[in-house]
Amino acid sequence: MGVEIRVEGLTKSFGRQVIWQDVSLSIPAGEISVLLGPSGTGKSVFLKSLVGLLKPDRGHIYIGDRDLPYLPEHQLYETRKLFGVLFQDGALFGSMNLFDNIAFPLREHTRKTEAEVKRIVLEKMDLVGLMGAEGKLPGEISGGMKKRAGLARALVLDPEILLVDEPDSGLDPVRTAFLNQVFIDLNAQLDCTFLIVTHDINTARTVPDNIGLLYQRHLAMFGPREMLLSSEEPVVRQFLNASKVGPIGMSEEKDASELEAEAKMGLDSGKLPPIPPQQMPSNGLVRRGQHAPGAWCAAHGVTPPPGSFVDELGRNWVDEWPRYVASMQAGQAVGAGGVTPPGGPGFPPPGPGPGGAAH
Ligand SMILES: Nc1ncnc2c1ncn2[C@@H]1O[C@H](COP(=O)(O)OP(=O)(O)O)[C@@H](O)[C@H]1O
Ligand SMILES: [Mg+2]
Repeated sequence: MGVEIRVEGLTKSFGRQVIWQDVSLSIPAGEISVLLGPSGTGKSVFLKSLVGLLKPDRGHIYIGDRDLPYLPEHQLYETRKLFGVLFQDGALFGSMNLFDNIAFPLREHTRKTEAEVKRIVLEKMDLVGLMGAEGKLPGEISGGMKKRAGLARALVLDPEILLVDEPDSGLDPVRTAFLNQVFIDLNAQLDCTFLIVTHDINTARTVPDNIGLLYQRHLAMFGPREMLLSSEEPVVRQFLNASKVGPIGMSEEKDASELEAEAKMGLDSGKLPPIPPQQMPSNGLVRRGQHAPGAWCAAHGVTPPPGSFVDELGRNWVDEWPRYVASMQAGQAVGAGGVTPPGGPGFPPPGPGPGGAAH
């Protein structure tokens, strides 16, 4: 199922610059969580703190009963093997072909034979839709393929936790949508907890089970996707609506007089847009953390904004859900009595591995 990461009172500063303080959250095992935040709020610093590349000033990071910041070096080294990390630039070695790049952690950290290395590398390349690209050099492939190669390398030691830093940086919206589909398909297929850091609002709205928002040196909110997407909290609302109106200004926060001026003009960050249906696996599997659409809202007496959970075909997934679950349980393929998930069967087109052909 992957493992839970429990963060308590985590604080990090560089010299006198506090990056964030008193961050507490539990990242649920096996689910996809997204951490959102304006640029420079310390999202990358947070990921690096989780894997022990940066040491927090105070606070705890529990994985099971291990408290990462306080582990002796050799135990930290062992615990790091639970993590797969996809850094922002993919961090591939430019002089090595994709096969050798992806094989690198296996050759460094295990005593597997070359035959085993080959089997594992090809299996992971298949998982991310990179079959046939083994001999390519990083300089010869597109940004989307580089991210997939970095992802295959992050998966090669079968991590319990996958951390991904800005998968959408440098990718166009179509490539981003394909890569997001790969994450969703992998999540359904692997026993792994996902934490994806992004400032892409569309990714945050459709991909995760949970959303967190880093803002003004603290974690403004963390919880189930529907909770954040229906929140009236001004910062959460402004950020998830990509609105210029609200407490977030050009240079991070606006001052009191700017906010007062907006209030006088009767501006607010707009009506909440509809909550979109979650993007579903394209590989016929169910997400690890799957909840029925609208379930959180219903359980908490929250009326979702009008038009919520309606997909591009006009189907309301609150109503569609029982039929979809039944067709999944019966193992019916899409088109053969099976219900097409939001996004449609051709998204992405069928191809090698989840996520379809390499892009
Ligand atoms: N190793 C470091 N030493 C000093 N300051 C750093 C270091 N790493 C990051 N920072 C600072 O921490 C802040 C947050 O950076 P970062 O985590 O990269 O933001 P984000 O990923 O949210 O865009 C920035 O002001 C950055 O300059
Ligand atoms: Mg960053």
